[in-house]
Amino acid sequence: MNAITLPSSRAYNIVDHTYDTVVVGAGGSGLRATFGMGAAGLKTACISKVFPTRSHTVAAQGGIGAALGNMGADDWRWHMYDTVKGSDWLGDQDAIEYLCREAIPAVYELEHYGMPFSRTEDGRIYQRPFGGHMTKNGEGPPALRACAAADRTGHAMLHTLYQQSLRNDVEFFNEYFALDLIVDDEGAARGVTAWCLEDGSIHRFRAQMVVIATGGYGRIYEVCTSAHICTGDGNGMVLRAGLPCQDMEFVQFHPTGIFPAGCLITEGARGEGGYLTNSEGERFMERYAPSAKDLASRDVVSRSMTVEISEGRGCGPNKDHILLHLEHLGADILHERLPGISETSRVFAGVDVTKAPIPVKPTVHYNMGGIPTNHHGEVLRPTPTDPDAVAPGLMAVGEAACVSVHGANRLGTNSLIDLLVFGRAAAHRAAKIVRPGASQAPLPPRAGERSLDRFDATRHAKGGTRVADLRLEMQKTMQTHAAVFRNSRTLAEGVTKMQAVWQGMADMSVSDRSLVWNSDLMEALELQNLMGNAMTTMVGAEARHESRGAHAHDDYPERDDAEWMKHTLAWCDEGGATRLAYRPVKMQTLTNEVSVIPPKQRVY
Ligand code: FUM
Repeated sequence: MNAITLPSSRAYNIVDHTYDTVVVGAGGSGLRATFGMGAAGLKTACISKVFPTRSHTVAAQGGIGAALGNMGADDWRWHMYDTVKGSDWLGDQDAIEYLCREAIPAVYELEHYGMPFSRTEDGRIYQRPFGGHMTKNGEGPPALRACAAADRTGHAMLHTLYQQSLRNDVEFFNEYFALDLIVDDEGAARGVTAWCLEDGSIHRFRAQMVVIATGGYGRIYEVCTSAHICTGDGNGMVLRAGLPCQDMEFVQFHPTGIFPAGCLITEGARGEGGYLTNSEGERFMERYAPSAKDLASRDVVSRSMTVEISEGRGCGPNKDHILLHLEHLGADILHERLPGISETSRVFAGVDVTKAPIPVKPTVHYNMGGIPTNHHGEVLRPTPTDPDAVAPGLMAVGEAACVSVHGANRLGTNSLIDLLVFGRAAAHRAAKIVRPGASQAPLPPRAGERSLDRFDATRHAKGGTRVADLRLEMQKTMQTHAAVFRNSRTLAEGVTKMQAVWQGMADMSVSDRSLVWNSDLMEALELQNLMGNAMTTMVGAEARHESRGAHAHDDYPERDDAEWMKHTLAWCDEGGATRLAYRPVKMQTLTNEVSVIPPKQRVY
């Protein structure tokens, strides 16, 4: 056991560990990477701030996108076309090719691991339509591509992956909160620091490869479908390590969050035949997306709903929401295919979906941006001369990462498949480049001191502002200033307000000084992570003078490929100062089995 005495004179004992690979996060991508690395003979630890089966993947509902063609013609190249179009040509086409091709073996592998999929009459995996997924390169009818376990697909998937992790020889450190990366003088990741929530001990995990799989940062907003744990912890760690995040301005609003609570009603509900109406009873999506209608891409549906509400055709006494109808589907279908959202609607909206429509409103759901990686999961450390330079010893997967396969707008079901495909890819890559048991240089004795200093200063913060108040101020700022529609004025004000919230952190108060199950301290540390995510989102959005995918800018309503078909890179220092640079979008494929999909107007 080592001890570090800090400038505050407080000393902390450190428990040291050594692994070949350490995965931070135990959602879908983290578990897939963890057991893949374990199965490849790498001594692997998985650190998670919650018990693995409580990770946010558990909340995913509608399905996993893969062109199996079980219920109609399909082709992974059509899936690729839809994903590139859905991304509004900000996705990297080499990575999208990899995603859509590898989706098929990744899903069959999951089936063989025991995933309890819903089934067709003849026993194959059941697949339903989802927004933006079409056939024949957008020219044919909707594709039946979402591989589903009723409307609890994420729950079934997470448990299946956890079972596989237990089957392989990996170690879990559950309810450990990762604090920071340990980075050496050459900029290589050498491990992470972590705090055990249960007994208050502090740990250093040394590894040849660290994998960030910490999920999204939906909680920078006040109303979102994301769990309270979605605080962008890995992105915060990466920003503090001096690395950039990418495309943070692209935040997805899911069209059907229950109004006003924000809980998710799966797009699978519209896939099964549900539809939206305004206060005049009109199926308004027919005007906005004459072909795909209610199954247009999410950004399109969310904007259409927002326009209906802002033009006075919202429902309810305050005309502030839209109605989603499922009554016509009948109780049997609802019970068999949508049991979860039937219950959620009853609990959170008091609605019996067999009899009445559900009040819904676009709600923050997913972060397209994150830690830039290549399609092997390796984190990028772009330089002016090499936009694809790799950061040694570091990988990122899942919603924390930006590969980028979702570009400016993700299609529904492409999140769960992203978790599987890139969790698996990271395991394959690690099996190639990490040598089991290779000796690792010792960490300098004071490695992690900076991290511990921040931890200690936060633990003893004596200001006058509660963490919850600061968090709410940040969330309200994001909700108001980086909404479905943005403009130059609201974004510029948003940047100024975010800077003020950042300054406010100097006055933070943490009232509980203990180390054991100190949720006050944990929320303060999570807020520090959220703030880096929020600041880079707002600053990136303010700088992007075009409209593309989820970034709908009133003053620049058109997509501008000549100027803006590029990824935003955002660095954020400890004072909140944010610097931007850009890197090119990959307009080449991995193989000649498919051609580059050239940009064109995006209509549904
Ligand atoms: O609507 C849904 O079930 C969400 C799926 C997704 O975000 O991929």
